[in-house]
Amino acid sequence: MNNVLLDIKRLTTSFTLFASGAESKFNTFNAVDGVDLTLCEQEILGLVGESGGGKSVTGFSILRLIDPPGRIAEGEILYRGEDLLKKTEAEMRRVRGREIAMIFQDPMTALNPLHTVGRQIDEMLRLHTPLGGSERRERVISLLHEVGIPNAESRLLAWPHQFSGGMLQRVVIATALAARPRLIIADEPTTALDVTVQAQILHLILEGVKNHGAALILITHDLAVVAGMTQRVAVMYCGRIVEEGPTDDVIRSPLHPYTLGLINSIPRSAPQRESSRRLPQIPGMVPNLTNLPRGCSFAPRCGDAEERCFAESPALRLLGGKRKVACWRAKEAKA
Ligand SMILES: Nc1ncnc2c1ncn2[C@@H]1O[C@H](COP(=O)(O)OP(=O)(O)O)[C@@H](O)[C@H]1O
Ligand SMILES: [Mg+2]
Repeated sequence: MNNVLLDIKRLTTSFTLFASGAESKFNTFNAVDGVDLTLCEQEILGLVGESGGGKSVTGFSILRLIDPPGRIAEGEILYRGEDLLKKTEAEMRRVRGREIAMIFQDPMTALNPLHTVGRQIDEMLRLHTPLGGSERRERVISLLHEVGIPNAESRLLAWPHQFSGGMLQRVVIATALAARPRLIIADEPTTALDVTVQAQILHLILEGVKNHGAALILITHDLAVVAGMTQRVAVMYCGRIVEEGPTDDVIRSPLHPYTLGLINSIPRSAPQRESSRRLPQIPGMVPNLTNLPRGCSFAPRCGDAEERCFAESPALRLLGGKRKVACWRAKEAKA
C-alpha cells in the first residue's frame, strides 16, 4: 500500500502568449511552478485551490497533454519509477487510459457524440486489453452495471445526446475504469452537473477507484468535497503547492493563511449559518501570473504578511512530520 506510484519533481509548465498593446511582446509565465508531489498506490489525494491556480495544468502535464503555446519546461514525472517526460509519444499513448485515466469536468466533451455509449467503452478495451469481441461486450455491460446505469444491455446502442449529464458522467467513469488504470485523475468531475447528482457521482468515483485498487487525484476548487473524500490534500496557489498534508489535519488546523481562507469560505450547514452574515472571502484577487509580486505570491492578500514575505518566496518545507507548508510565518500545528 505504501509503494510510491507517482513522484513529481520540480514540475514546471509554462505558456508563452502574445501580449498585444503599446509594446507588443511575448509573455511567458509558469502555470505550474516547481511542483513536487508524491502519490502512493491506492492513495486518494485532493488537489484544491481557486480557479487559475494550476490544478488542471498539473493534471494535463502528468498525461503530457500540454499543447503549444504551453510546454513542460522542467522537472520529472516518475510513474512507477519511469520518467513520463522521457517517453516517446507512442509510449505515452499506452500510458493514457491503460495506466492513467482522466475524468473531466464536462462529460459531453469527453465522449465522442458520433459513437454509441457502448462503443466509447469498447474502444478503451480494444486499445488497451487483449479481450475479444464478445468478452469486451460482457465487460462493457458489467462496467455499465457497476456505474449504476440501468438496463445496461439495452443502453449499449444509445447515443450520448440521449443521456443526462449525470448519466454521461457515469459512462465517462466506466470508460476511465475500463482498462483498470492504476491512477485516475478526476478534474472537477461534478462541476458541470446538477447539484442533486454531484454527491452520487463523487461517491461512484470513489467506489470505482477503491474496487479497482486504483489511486485517485481529485482536482476541485471545493475544499468541502476534498474533506469527505480524500486522505491527503495539496493546496495550490499561483502554480505552487502552498500546503500539503493529511486532509483531516489540514482542515482542522491549516498552516497556510491561504488554506485558512479557503476553509472559511466553505458554507456551513443551514442551521449554523447566520443568513444575514455574508460568507468571508479571501480579500483581493489572484495575481496575474505574468506579473507576480516579489516574494510570496499570497503576501498581497495575506493579513499576516511581514517584510520578509514581500521580499523572498518561501519554499515548501516539512513541518512536524507529515505536514508541509510554504509560508515564512507558519509554526508547527498544535496537536
Ligand atoms: N491553453 C492555455 N493557454 C494559455 N494559458 C493557459 C492555458 N491553460 C491554462 N492556462 C493558464 O494557466 C493558469 C492555470 O490554469 P489552470 O491549470 O486551468 O487552473 P485551475 O485548473 O487551477 O483553475 C491560468 O492562469 C490559465 O489561464
Ligand atoms: Mg481547472
